[in-house]
Amino acid sequence: MKAVVYNGPFDVSVENVEDPRIEDANDAIIRITTANICGSDLHPYEGRVEFEPGSVFGHENMGIVEEVGPGVNRIKVGDRVSVPFNLACGTCRNCTVGFTSACLRANPSGQPGAGYGYPMMGPYRGGQAELLRVPWADFNLLELPAGNEHELDFAMLSDIFPTGYHGVELAKLAPGETIAIWGAGPVGLMAAHSAVLRGASQVFVVDFEPDRLALAEQFGATPVNAADVDAVEAITDATDGFGVDCGVEAVGYQAHDPAGDEHPAMVMDGLIAAVRATGRIGVVGVYEPEDPGASADAAKEGRYSFDFGTAFTKGLAIGTGQCPVKRYNRELRDLVIRGVATPGRLVSHELAITEAPRAYDQFDKRVDGWTKVVLHPAA
Ligand SMILES: NC(=O)c1ccc[n+]([C@@H]2O[C@H](COP(=O)([O-])OP(=O)(O)OC[C@H]3O[C@@H](n4cnc5c(N)ncnc54)[C@H](O)[C@@H]3O)[C@@H](O)[C@H]2O)c1
Ligand SMILES: [Zn+2]
Ligand SMILES: [Zn+2]
Repeated sequence: MKAVVYNGPFDVSVENVEDPRIEDANDAIIRITTANICGSDLHPYEGRVEFEPGSVFGHENMGIVEEVGPGVNRIKVGDRVSVPFNLACGTCRNCTVGFTSACLRANPSGQPGAGYGYPMMGPYRGGQAELLRVPWADFNLLELPAGNEHELDFAMLSDIFPTGYHGVELAKLAPGETIAIWGAGPVGLMAAHSAVLRGASQVFVVDFEPDRLALAEQFGATPVNAADVDAVEAITDATDGFGVDCGVEAVGYQAHDPAGDEHPAMVMDGLIAAVRATGRIGVVGVYEPEDPGASADAAKEGRYSFDFGTAFTKGLAIGTGQCPVKRYNRELRDLVIRGVATPGRLVSHELAITEAPRAYDQFDKRVDGWTKVVLHPAA
């Protein structure tokens, strides 16, 4: 089958690799109809996280069940399914309390949490390919209505829609409250969509990419272009000097200024300044325990020197981590089915798998208009 293979920094190619097969009674094989490229894929793509050459990319997957192992009895061949990016056993201590993002059994390295086609997330191949093996299929897979309606909306259920929602949940946004989201990438846009759905009275989205900020506005947010204004000042002024009730970090450790120079603590500093005393911050942007390519020495060892003193003085609550997709994906799917949520609106490019190298290049350079790329390997 064809698959998107990582060869080294800034180098992916579409190769023929061996088809996956049922290895365990609880496995299913999915024929991938849509696999997305994610901002998280760019960390290994840029060589900022080590990734073994020859690995197949892709953790945002959906498709049709092609084959199931003898232990699978809920999911059937022919079902249309969404594959959460967390790959989880369903029965360990963390899975049973809903933290599939920290499964204790799926990652043989011993690190909690496993996933498809991603460094340090276990030996599992990604789904930017024609076929994908899904372990513990009955537990992991989410059923979707048959047919091809809402394909792009449902494609957002494997990661970024739940992740954006998780940011808002960690920020404990209540109806009528205000929220500031740093980052208008796919995750920030999904956080904005989620915040509007949860009844925020105003949603600010900070970035400096005009095309992405325009999308944020389409999702009902107030765009704040940090290249033109001091974002903290603008948000503070717009909330009568009070600050927003809560905030979401949807940028991650490669936060940079409009000129492109990295300052890994700048987004946390902005949030801590813009959120009111006793407010809450949800951090879904990724920070790494080691980042040899970091601009600041401390950050090379995973130490991010944001303004913790002010965070403490203000009494802020900060939540972090990978999204446990299964906690939200069923309800978010139903919002799509009933026409309330339209996460697929942010997709800018639908491409054949053979176009993946160009897509990685353009998305990585954040070329105008390349917001969210989906590949259709079955096409
Ligand atoms: N926690 C999770 O489960 C989870 C899941 C998926 C993605 N992520 C992470 O979420 C983050 C965002 O993902 P994405 O796909 O949207 O990535 P992306 O790289 O497409 O978007 C990031 C956005 O942040 C903007 N930005 C950079 N510096 C900024 C600054 N100082 N102020 C304001 N905006 C700034 C960029 O212009 C860009 O639009 C990444 O770190 C990704 O790894 C986390
Ligand atoms: Zn992702
Ligand atoms: Zn588990």
